[in-house]
Amino acid sequence: MAQEIRVGFVGTGGIATEAHLPALKEIEGVEIAALCDARKETAEAAAQRFGGRVYADHREMLDREELDALFVCLPPDAHTDAELLAAAKGVHLLVEKPVALSMDKGLEIAEAIEKADVISCVGYQLRYFPVADAARGFLAGKKIAMVAGNRWGGVPGGADHWWRVMARSGGMFHEMATHNMDFIRYLVGDVATVCARYSLNVLGDAENLTVPDSQVIVMEFKNGATGYFSATCALTKGGGWSSTDIILRDLMLRVSFEDIKVAPEGAAEIGLPEPGMNIQQAFIHAIRTGDRSVIRSDYADALKTTEVTLGANESAATGKPVAMKLV
Ligand SMILES: NC(=O)c1ccc[n+]([C@@H]2O[C@H](COP(=O)([O-])OP(=O)(O)OC[C@H]3O[C@@H](n4cnc5c(N)ncnc54)[C@H](O)[C@@H]3O)[C@@H](O)[C@H]2O)c1
Repeated sequence: MAQEIRVGFVGTGGIATEAHLPALKEIEGVEIAALCDARKETAEAAAQRFGGRVYADHREMLDREELDALFVCLPPDAHTDAELLAAAKGVHLLVEKPVALSMDKGLEIAEAIEKADVISCVGYQLRYFPVADAARGFLAGKKIAMVAGNRWGGVPGGADHWWRVMARSGGMFHEMATHNMDFIRYLVGDVATVCARYSLNVLGDAENLTVPDSQVIVMEFKNGATGYFSATCALTKGGGWSSTDIILRDLMLRVSFEDIKVAPEGAAEIGLPEPGMNIQQAFIHAIRTGDRSVIRSDYADALKTTEVTLGANESAATGKPVAMKLV
């Protein structure tokens, strides 16, 4: 029988109840022990569906419960001390992206995780998709000329949603397109510098909205490749687009989350492997076996993606390029 793993949550909103909790219910031997949300009724509603004792304060939950793992599913500005307290108790962590809203906070948490030597896993689930294996395998050791990434969409939630407030979410590139940026890092390599320009030109009259409606970021990669990313949330009536194009000598890959198209046609054959573990399975497997190699984005690595997106925010604010410091 599989070793019982007792899991707690802090933040039981969309990603917790739509993705993590249903996926954990499918894994044998996982007990949903405790659910915490600042809006207690949200945690109560989740507990009715998935079980678990309900809390409104994560400190009380961590004091009372003997957890093996904590899922931190909070908005970017709400990462305060949950990770620090959990790590100090030896509780393994799955933290949702983006892991922090400032590098100081991210570095503080990374240090606590390293000191406690707990397992960490960050919610960059695209890394577990078969296309990620196929593209990464194909690109390994090859020289890349350029990467072009785009994520165009709208504004989630209503006028009171935290997402539309720059000081709470960090904006589209940091909060949402962080998935695309992390995917690019996984396939292409680490970023050396970013230079960004943002504007709030068409959504300026939207209630309570302070995030830029358009963001363009130019990147230099450590391996010599160049790249750009564009993000917009101006398409509030639907529609949108997400793409990752990678240019090599005489070859272009268009990598979606489902498949890889090659141009010119027939220039390369890239087959997709069978799906492996999903992110929740990988995290639970790592806790049970101690094998951390199945985790594709730990906290320290995810912080490098955060450094890129926060670096872009800084560059847009100062007008100057920003160099990455994490190695
Ligand atoms: N991996 C993915 O694909 C994916 C998808 C969606 C969201 N996310 C990420 O997950 C995080 C949460 O997003 P969401 O869509 O679930 O947001 P949400 O607003 O639906 O849920 C967040 C919950 O956290 C609660 N909360 C806020 N501060 C709290 C605190 N101090 N203590 C306890 N609870 C608190 C809120 O009451 C809310 O219920 C974000 O960082 C987001 O980027 C990841």
